[in-house]
Amino acid sequence: MTTERKNTTSLILLYDNIRWEEKAIYEAARKKGIEIKNIDCKDLILDLNNPSEYLDQTILQRSVSYFKSLHSTAALEGLGAKVINPLDTAIVCGNKLFTHMKLKNAGIKTPKVITAFSAESALNALNKFGYPTIIKPTIGSWGRLIALLKDSDAAKAVIEDREHMFPLYHVYYLEEFVDRPPRDIRAIVVGDSVVAAIYRYSGGNSWKTNMALGGRAEACHITKELEDICLKSTKIVGGKIVGVDLMESSRDGLVVHEVNNTTEFKNTVKVTGIAIQEIIVDYSIKYN
Ligand SMILES: Nc1ncnc2c1ncn2[C@@H]1O[C@H](COP(=O)(O)OP(=O)(O)O)[C@@H](O)[C@H]1O
Ligand SMILES: [Mg+2]
Repeated sequence: MTTERKNTTSLILLYDNIRWEEKAIYEAARKKGIEIKNIDCKDLILDLNNPSEYLDQTILQRSVSYFKSLHSTAALEGLGAKVINPLDTAIVCGNKLFTHMKLKNAGIKTPKVITAFSAESALNALNKFGYPTIIKPTIGSWGRLIALLKDSDAAKAVIEDREHMFPLYHVYYLEEFVDRPPRDIRAIVVGDSVVAAIYRYSGGNSWKTNMALGGRAEACHITKELEDICLKSTKIVGGKIVGVDLMESSRDGLVVHEVNNTTEFKNTVKVTGIAIQEIIVDYSIKYN
């Protein structure tokens, strides 16, 4: 098997589900005359012990599945590929608790969180922390399994259910309900630049602003403060292409609640008119 360096003008787009973003990245690369190969993660077979055809290849990791994404990143990076985002970033960003600790220790404002490791401890913690409080799985997206605990009856019901679920859900991540306008901010960072940002307003009666739950987007002006927080957060997690989620807390100002390592950006392109897919391609072909 050959191990010569690959042409850096080629890209691999690794996916497990083709969304608007994957199509847009593919089309942008083709338009620029860049060779781009789509690989379905479900078709990937990697021999971990031998030199790999992926050595030095730049790979845009776009798999939606947390486990497939994390493990294929680990394998490919270990085989010498340049995966965007890198494994260390995927490990931290894929887990809200890990992200919280990194951000907090770097002096970035985050919502207050208590964590507990049994149902009983979680309920005791909530009695001290107070209500309303949000319970979040440490790993998850699209607002799934995130619940607002308004009182101890709600907390007991939700926590009892969690006890019958996979052990991951027995790690209790309890976050203060941030007093904020009915929106949050999603900022897209590529390399050293915040390339676009949107406000996301809740859809229907939901307090969650995820686009996947029917949220509405509006362009958001990138202030110096927003830019500084986003770039610092990205640097702390070692991110290359990420979506930073922030809320405008009435008490603390801008707080970061999440950094997404396989960020969606369809609505950001739609409302800002900024061709993020092109910026991603331009950045990726120069990535070393
Ligand atoms: N602490 C909080 N206070 C108020 N709203 C929150 C809080 N945390 C999350 N939300 C809302 O819930 C949505 C989903 O939460 P998030 O932590 O981003 O999880 P996910 O990874 O599922 O997107 C956010 O976009 C925001 O609108
Ligand atoms: Mg989110």
